[in-house]
Amino acid sequence: MDDVVTVTEPAEPDVAAIVALWERCGLTRPWNDPIEDIRLARTTGHGAVLIASVGERLAGAVMVGHDGHRGAVYYLGVDPGARRHGIGRRLVEAAEAWVLARGIPKINLLVRKENAAVLAFYEALGWHDTHTVCLYRTLDPAKRDDEMRQKAAWAAALPRRDP
Ligand SMILES: CC(C)(COP(=O)(O)OP(=O)(O)OC[C@H]1O[C@@H](n2cnc3c(N)ncnc32)[C@H](O)[C@@H]1OP(=O)(O)O)[C@@H](O)C(=O)NCCC(=O)NCCS
Repeated sequence: MDDVVTVTEPAEPDVAAIVALWERCGLTRPWNDPIEDIRLARTTGHGAVLIASVGERLAGAVMVGHDGHRGAVYYLGVDPGARRHGIGRRLVEAAEAWVLARGIPKINLLVRKENAAVLAFYEALGWHDTHTVCLYRTLDPAKRDDEMRQKAAWAAALPRRDP
């Protein structure tokens, strides 16, 4: 890839293009609304969306934020045709810089244990497994019920694997 890669926090992100990219990367789930996630990140003052462009073309995007103690990375995705050219690394480094610039010295993210490729990617960037368990709870009761229904339907639609 010869074109210059730029990483920016766009003033008016192209939300539709970013969501389409995340869909191509398999990062969206029916029970999460990425448009609302982008809006929340950008309006609470605790987060941002960063995009990587190759020339005029959107090649990758990531969401970064912090809770006042630790930073967090979400929705890191590089277009399938643009992988292994350092764009994921550039996006993670930009997310780390965004967090550090706000006086937050540490950063976390979630990766499924079975996702060996993404674990290898983060290990190559100097991140390490904390061997902790992530506990989770959806606080909005209406959203909780809807999420449980959607997760069950999504799991039922997955191709069955041999044990
Ligand atoms: C993970 C992802 C963002 C990596 O983006 P990328 O632009 O291809 O990564 P980079 O080119 O910056 O890779 C940097 C280094 O990470 C390692 N790495 C990257 N992808 C890897 C893979 N699939 N397997 C093993 N190591 C990998 C390599 O050491 C690589 O350096 P090298 O290419 O010189 O060997 C991309 O594969 C992706 O979008 N995956 C699907 C979405 C996803 O699962 N996101 C993470 C959610 S937790």
